[in-house]
Amino acid sequence: MKIIAGNWKMHKGLKETQDFLAELQSQIEDDPEKLKWIVFPPTVSLARAQQILHGGPIKWGAQNCHWEEKGAFTGETSPEMLKELGAEYCLVGHSERRELFGETNDSCSKKILALHIEDVIPLFCVGEKLAEREAGKTEAVLKTQLIEGLAALKEHHLKIRESQHHFDLVVAYEPVWAIGTGKTASPQMASEAHAFIRKCLSEIFDPATAEAIPLLYGGSVKPENAKELAKQPHIDGFLVGGASLVANSFAQIGAAAL
Ligand code: PGA
Repeated sequence: MKIIAGNWKMHKGLKETQDFLAELQSQIEDDPEKLKWIVFPPTVSLARAQQILHGGPIKWGAQNCHWEEKGAFTGETSPEMLKELGAEYCLVGHSERRELFGETNDSCSKKILALHIEDVIPLFCVGEKLAEREAGKTEAVLKTQLIEGLAALKEHHLKIRESQHHFDLVVAYEPVWAIGTGKTASPQMASEAHAFIRKCLSEIFDPATAEAIPLLYGGSVKPENAKELAKQPHIDGFLVGGASLVANSFAQIGAAAL
């Protein structure tokens, strides 16, 4: 089974969300045994996504959250509020949030635990910058992000279940240099990073748990490169930015991943 997730970033208010989802619903392959579709609209459009997608095959999630339940945190949204909007997933640690909004491994760790407690599945993003890759530090960076970002969840005693395609955690490998740049990691590069992430997860948790955590690749995924990437071991789907904004190309990525 492959997961095809679309990160809309700061695109699509209510009207565009409505139009896009209607179009997507008419285009996707609805085969829950083979594909799981998730969209990540901006927070303001989640209620509209809920109205339209409720009860159907496409799930929806939020792009960010706060780790506290409530309080004086202007502009923030709690996992509980997201749950009320039917969000089954929430992105954590996207590189844009790390780079532009001060997200740290420590804040990721708190968010992941807070989401887990509310039964919202964290989709945790990790990835190295170009300079880190060129300096041979890719594995060290990924390992630190995973150990520190998953610290609270590990401590809280993780329950990963893989029953009826329900997961408690999803990890996305998103090399920062490939995001929005048109440069994709080669299938071999992505596959090596995914194998390494799986190894780290088995050290953090245990091998059976690590096996049950879906690993997505993200970074300039398009219909043209999805097929080759999807064939690699340890690539369980995609987190798509730019190409998820057009219903047809997002649907084609799913078809290519089968
Ligand atoms: P991209 O973005 O597909 O536009 O490179 C991926 C992401 O940011 O999740």
